[in-house]
Order: sequence, then structure tokens, then C-alpha cells
Amino acid sequence: MTPDLLEQGARRIEERMALLAAGKNNTESGGRNASTGRVVESGEVDVTHGRILYLEDVSVSFDGFKAINKLSLDIAPGELRCIIGPNGAGKTTMMDIITGKTRPDEGTVFFGSTIDLLRHKEAEIAQLGIGRKFQKPTVFEQLTVFENLELALKTNKGVKSSMFFRLDSAQSDRLAEVLVTIHLADSVNRMAGNLSHGQKQWLEIGMLLMQDPKLLLLDEPVAGMTDEETARTAELFLTLKGKHSLMVVEHDMSFIKTISEIVTVLCDGSVLAQGTLDQVQADERVIEVYLGR
Ligand SMILES: Nc1ncnc2c1ncn2[C@@H]1O[C@H](COP(=O)(O)OP(=O)(O)OP(=O)(O)O)[C@@H](O)[C@H]1O
Ligand SMILES: [Mg+2]
Repeated sequence: MTPDLLEQGARRIEERMALLAAGKNNTESGGRNASTGRVVESGEVDVTHGRILYLEDVSVSFDGFKAINKLSLDIAPGELRCIIGPNGAGKTTMMDIITGKTRPDEGTVFFGSTIDLLRHKEAEIAQLGIGRKFQKPTVFEQLTVFENLELALKTNKGVKSSMFFRLDSAQSDRLAEVLVTIHLADSVNRMAGNLSHGQKQWLEIGMLLMQDPKLLLLDEPVAGMTDEETARTAELFLTLKGKHSLMVVEHDMSFIKTISEIVTVLCDGSVLAQGTLDQVQADERVIEVYLGR
């Protein structure tokens, strides 16, 4: 993503935050027609409409039960969006829909303003630049930190090209940069199996970063972490913000407080409230279904 588009994204977040601070409930349609007419280069995601991800009226039922119910939501380029909500609200299912794991019954899901994600398969969506982190770390325990990161570059390539795979200098630079970002520069030759739970989570995030995703979806990234690991993860996400767009689902409110700009509260498969953490925490409906328990 180019700096001017990230600036646009940042401006859009600032505008939204200003509206929210003024007590105006900024709707998802805000800025929808604000095109700059910028020509998009190939391989880039077209974010000239100020959003990297756009969901409208998305619904999905499982055996007659509406897990996602007319869900509409959008995310600006470079934004770090927090998603909270009670168990069963549909947070993970929403990520399943964005990543192509689950097909919605109806609705619109766009990556930028031109890529219709519902027309793409799961592997293609990953290739397009959407990385997903599941709750449980899934690193290769028998390989070193370095080998795990290296392997992340080989995925989706044929067996033959993997066998002869060598990091080029840009990839080596990227790997070194990622190691520092995920706080594992001192552990490059350690077996992933010997890392702490938190370090494994960071390594998996590092593996996603090797692919330079435009959008990262993180489902309960700090569950099971120590307080110190949680604090370092907050730091990590704040570093990633701006360079990538992030959607973070978490139940840990002190973590959300550290990283959040706009918080979206999901309940019964749709958006119940949205705003700053202070605003949603003061919302009676949110207290009733989630925070007041
Ligand atoms: N593949 C599926 N088949 C049937 N029901 C499903 C499926 N996936 C999700 N559900 C149901 O959809 C609802 C939403 O589940 P989801 O996992 O998205 O909630 P969540 O907000 O992620 O909750 P939690 O905070 O506990 O992780 C739940 O009632 C769940 O049982
Ligand atoms: Mg979940």
C-alpha cells in the first residue's frame, strides 16, 4: 500500500474519531462517495473509497440459526479495528466469511472497492493479501524460528520450487525486519516447540507478516498470554497499525483499552454498537448483553 493511501486511511479514521467524539454516530455510509479518482496500480487493492474491507447486509444461517444477521461494517486502510461481543455473537463466523471459509447466504463482501471476496476461494483470498490468525498457535514445532518464517514464503508454491527455494536479498531483509517486529531476533535458531505460548503466537503473526498482508484478522490473539506477553502484543499491534489494516477480536478489555481506536460490538450476528471504547462501555445495550455480566 502506498503512503498517500495510508494517509487517506489515517485521515478517514481521524474524521470518524472526531465525529464520534462530537457524539455523532458516524454511519457506515460516511464517505462512501468520496472518490479521489486515483488510478490504481495492478496488484494493489483499490482503497480510493477510503476502505480496505466492506461488508453490507451479510447473513448466514446454520440449520436455520442466523449466526450472522444483516451485518454491515467497514474498515479504513491502516486502521486497527477492535471487535468485541459475547460468546456466540458471530465474531469468528464473520472472519470465516471474510476469508472464504464460510459462504454467506446473502450480502456483499468487498476487499477494497473492486475485489468481490465472495467470488474467490479461501486460498485466493490469502493470496490477495488477507492474513488470518486463529486462536491456537499453529507453528511448526520441530523447526527453528528462522525456518518457520522462511517456510511462510514457500507456501502456495509447487514442491519443486520449494525444494530449490532460496531467500533473495529482499526476502532476507524482510525476514530480519519481521524478527525484530515480533520480538524474536534473539531466538532465531531456537526450536519453535521450545518457545513460550506468547512467543509462538508472535511467530505465527510473523509468518503472516512474511507475506506482507494488507489486512490481518486476529481472533483472540492474547488468550492464554501472561500480562507481560499481552503488553508486548499490544505494542506489536500498534507498530503494525498504519502499515497494515488489522481486525482484532478480543475479550480482554484492558488489552482493547490499550490498542483501540474504534470498537465494534457484535451481538446476535450484527453490529450492536460502535464507537470509542468509552462510548460503547457506556452504552446500556452493550452493558446488558456483554459488559455487565
Ligand atoms: N459451522 C457451523 N455450524 C453450525 N453452527 C455454527 C457454525 N459456526 C458457528 N456456528 C454457530 O454460530 C454462532 C456464532 O458463533 P461464533 O463462533 O462466530 O461466535 P463468536 O462470536 O466467535 O464467539 P466466541 O466469543 O465464543 O468465540 C454460535 O451459536 C455457533 O454455535
Ligand atoms: Mg470466536
